[in-house]
Amino acid sequence: THSVPSLNVDIASRTPPYRKLVTKLEEVRRILGASRQLTLAEKILYSHLDNPEESLLTDTSNGKDIRGKANLKLKPDRVAMQDASAQMALLQFMTCNLPSTAVPASIHCDHMIVGEKGADTDLPNSIAGNKEVFDFLESAAKKYGIEFWPPGAGIIHQSVLENYSAPGLMMLGTDSHTPNAGGLGAIAIGVGGADAVDALVDAPWELKAPKVLGVKLVGELSGWASPKDVILHLAGQLTVRGGTGFVIEYFGPGVESLSCTGMGTICNMGAEVGATTSLFPFSPAHIPYLVATHRGSIAEAAKRISSGPMAQNLLKADPEAAYDKVITIDLSTLEPHINGPFTPDFSTPLSKFKSVVEEKDWPRTFGAGLIGSCTNSSYEDMTRAEELVKQASAAGLTPKADFFITPGSEMIRATLDRGNTLSTFSSAGGVVLANACGPCIGQWKRTDEVKKGESNAIFTSYNRNFPGRNDGNRATMNFLASPELITAMSYSGSTTFNPITDSIPTPSGSPFKFAPPKGLDLPSGGFADGNPDFFPTPGVPDSSVEVIVDPNSTRLALLDPFSPFPDSELTSLRVLYKVKGQCTTDTISAAGPWLKYKGHLPNISENTLIGAVNAATDEVNVAYDVDGSKCGIPELGKRWRDKGQEWLVVAEHNYGEGSAREHAALQPRYLGGRIILAKSFARIHETNLKKQGIVPLTFANEADYDLFDACDEVATRGLLDVLRSGGKGEVELVLKKEGGDKVIKTRHTLSEDQSGFVLAGSALNLLAMKGRE
Ligand code: F3S
Repeated sequence: THSVPSLNVDIASRTPPYRKLVTKLEEVRRILGASRQLTLAEKILYSHLDNPEESLLTDTSNGKDIRGKANLKLKPDRVAMQDASAQMALLQFMTCNLPSTAVPASIHCDHMIVGEKGADTDLPNSIAGNKEVFDFLESAAKKYGIEFWPPGAGIIHQSVLENYSAPGLMMLGTDSHTPNAGGLGAIAIGVGGADAVDALVDAPWELKAPKVLGVKLVGELSGWASPKDVILHLAGQLTVRGGTGFVIEYFGPGVESLSCTGMGTICNMGAEVGATTSLFPFSPAHIPYLVATHRGSIAEAAKRISSGPMAQNLLKADPEAAYDKVITIDLSTLEPHINGPFTPDFSTPLSKFKSVVEEKDWPRTFGAGLIGSCTNSSYEDMTRAEELVKQASAAGLTPKADFFITPGSEMIRATLDRGNTLSTFSSAGGVVLANACGPCIGQWKRTDEVKKGESNAIFTSYNRNFPGRNDGNRATMNFLASPELITAMSYSGSTTFNPITDSIPTPSGSPFKFAPPKGLDLPSGGFADGNPDFFPTPGVPDSSVEVIVDPNSTRLALLDPFSPFPDSELTSLRVLYKVKGQCTTDTISAAGPWLKYKGHLPNISENTLIGAVNAATDEVNVAYDVDGSKCGIPELGKRWRDKGQEWLVVAEHNYGEGSAREHAALQPRYLGGRIILAKSFARIHETNLKKQGIVPLTFANEADYDLFDACDEVATRGLLDVLRSGGKGEVELVLKKEGGDKVIKTRHTLSEDQSGFVLAGSALNLLAMKGRE
């Protein structure tokens, strides 16, 4: 074990457990047979299985048909969390009473920082506005040995690439762009907070074995084409749903021509096509990047594995590995692309963009060019942009559009500062924002004249462009492109400008044309460490630290463990609400202004089911109590909870579709919900309910939905036996009606583990009990 003195980090905790992984991979090969060729994604995933036999030799997959079928129970090596989603993850983790996290973890304060005037004023203002949340996260991090990156230290994905990602690593991150780490050869998957807690408490994390989409890269990028264009082009081919259920695995000779950070950009935006994750094999560019980021020993360890016999080679696909689908991209002929507006898969090659703008009658000018963010703030990106700024400045030009630069981390910012890149940007009129998400997550206080609802265009090097994403104005058209293209276009201010063919008039009257940008993958003098105030706290637990939660806080509240299942059937439940039609996780736990209460279960529970349609009256969020009095659903839930009246919800198909939002399961449980009875469930939400101790049941006979009314009294029959026998048997519900009881047959999917969750009150209760044994 050695550490980097300046940053005080422990390299051992950042090195993937290669010996263990290689041994697991050998076991996997024994199970699957020596002739089975594996893709890289399969190797890394399967070598992280808790029990390979149990996961790979199931009835359905039987060791052959694994992808899309087998349920993988995985043990990730590490967890990273951003400040918004870390709150509930930590509050849940705390209920387990463990002294430290089971795997190394990190917290990155990036989402709650505004982009307005520049880092110097924006950062202190944002820290002041979110102090209680940051204090909580920092104190919890110190107590449980989580590395804490304070506000301004950097954006989660950039910091992860610079510090934690490594070839062969498997990590979970509580943010959808976690796959960015796949640029350095890791399997990195974006999850909700409750999933992250699985890894933090050493419980296996479940994933349906993904299919593998191979993207073969040939040729070499040149001129204006950049790594961003690879994924902008691919997004156009695959569409926003095309990667669902797949890992995207890049291979082929073109891989070796890409920088490590360029590969990160490509993997980052794999989230835009719905892929589980994306990754690259261990490549020559990884070695200098690891060395430059103080991780030479990891590069050496990865090299040793790669030179081993194929049976052991964890870090690249077997030569004959079969992909479920293959797409080939020729980097040599790839054009720069511009994607948008409003969806990342509307992809237009630069040469055609002018005609599309005219045809669609999009705005001919744009107000702002924003470069950087977690997607595109590498040294390579920034020095290519800088070189264009220098060309334009020498010709006497300044940007016509507002120009914003978001460095992804303090390390990048300090390095760009040292090399005068940032001063080149600011002398040209650019505004350097804090090392944080800012405009990428709607934290952009625009100071130009654009009014809400007014159609206008902006260009960003970010990854998402849904309406309202950046400035809260749903009419703002966000076009996604590479940082270098945005930089050049900002000098013309015109959406139809093509820097490859067009020129800009200079003050002297002569036309100026950009030469293709040039940049450097890595700084020749190494990276600067930056301001020590932004270094992470070490990941060493300290039980003497008290976690700071102000009892009067409106944004944070400690969680009390949910009560265990009683030693009896549930004899007097009532139907709180009978939902008609679609009921997504947004219907159950709305987002928007409620997001600030993510760490405060009582406050966020005030939005429970407020989007749900009343099956009897078609009203939204209007419930009726037993005495006929009318109120909102959360209010009735609270009223019943306070008098000990437990309840169920009756619903239709695909209950809980949408996201993995754990609040949609936590909130009903907090308000006294015991059962959700639906025609069918979305798979992830069904699992989340069981984790929080709620029993999801489906109708054996769908027509029985019609028999239920709000406020009906219901008793369970057989549920206790099912729970006690580890999920065996059937559950009936006795529906008490004036004309006589009706027996409703139901189905359940409770496994042995999940029955234990419900009996204990929640999955975390069970873990806490096991921890005490
Ligand atoms: Fe998400 Fe922040 Fe990147 S909002 S997309 S992590 S810059």
